[in-house]
Amino acid sequence: MFPKVNFIGNKEKIADWISEYFPKDAQSIFDAFSGGGSVSFQAKKMKLKVISNDILTINYILAKALIENNNEILDESDIDTIFEGNPIKGFMYKNYSNKFFFPEECMELDLYRKNIDKLFSEYKKAIALALMRRSMIRKMPYSRFNITWEKVCQLRDEEYSYQKYKRKRAYHNNTFKYHFLKNLEDYNSAIFDNGCNNIAYNDDVFNLLNKIKADIIYLDPPYAGTMNNYFSFYGLIDEYVKCKKKNPFENNFTDKNSVLLLFDKLFSNLSNYRYWLLSYNNNSYPPKDELFKIINKYSNNIKIIEKQHDYKITGKEKKKQNKEYLFVVQNEKY
Ligand SMILES: C[S@@+](CC[C@H](N)C(=O)[O-])C[C@H]1O[C@@H](n2cnc3c(N)ncnc32)[C@H](O)[C@@H]1O
Repeated sequence: MFPKVNFIGNKEKIADWISEYFPKDAQSIFDAFSGGGSVSFQAKKMKLKVISNDILTINYILAKALIENNNEILDESDIDTIFEGNPIKGFMYKNYSNKFFFPEECMELDLYRKNIDKLFSEYKKAIALALMRRSMIRKMPYSRFNITWEKVCQLRDEEYSYQKYKRKRAYHNNTFKYHFLKNLEDYNSAIFDNGCNNIAYNDDVFNLLNKIKADIIYLDPPYAGTMNNYFSFYGLIDEYVKCKKKNPFENNFTDKNSVLLLFDKLFSNLSNYRYWLLSYNNNSYPPKDELFKIINKYSNNIKIIEKQHDYKITGKEKKKQNKEYLFVVQNEKY
């Protein structure tokens, strides 16, 4: 089963539905904007060879842990290694004390980050970082890192939160170790071998389109017009992983002025793929008819499938009615 990742804009609830439209003759898929990895995971279960990619390093690490990794898990001695020693003053303490976490919590994160590097393999390190991500997200109000420290303190004040929202949100004040251990079993048991040599990448999609070959390319880019600034949500975790400050990425599909050109550039570069599947919805820019026209420049074989999909906007405790579209395009070159 897919573990609790909690990724904004994930397709976890509709991954089954999306996968119904994977053409039956396909044996491989390139999930080019893999995010939390829910569609890659579904494809892995279906025994497709999965190539995952995301520009965020932590999403690449998630794919490395859960998609590329076919058999390594974290055992008790790994856990002892990750949590041994005393908190230290490192990158998080110096840069993010009283910004997202309290100073002593930053020092714990610094210790765990250093200890994770002592683990024996790349896959073990990836699982450990994926679990550390999960712990950081659980402790962070609204589960994203573009919240002011004032708001963080308010929402981590259990009495205030109870008075105002009738919820104590005590989980924000549990330790990183508590959350890590609580999720460990779920992450370990999500690791399985589907008999394929799956691969994770960490690159701008435009650097890979002509290098990677697969039967299907699945496209789930950020949507202009919705909550979409992934660097602001999760860039902090990339900085934790790398222990250095990072700049926001380009080509991020968030800007209404450039998104039409980016979509055109994307579809003009898909000759390596027989089938193009694109997730889209009715709140995004450009509207689906305009997007259709762009894709239509490159193929006349386009189907649009619709589904009602309710999703929760983090931070606003409400559900928004959303119509989900799946463009299924056949590349006429094949
Ligand atoms: C809507 S999310 C994908 C959600 C994913 N399907 C899931 O189920 O979790 C879009 C992803 O695109 C990534 N992204 C944005 N610009 C990118 C680029 N130029 N190249 C590769 N990935 C990019 C973001 O980091 C984000 O993770």
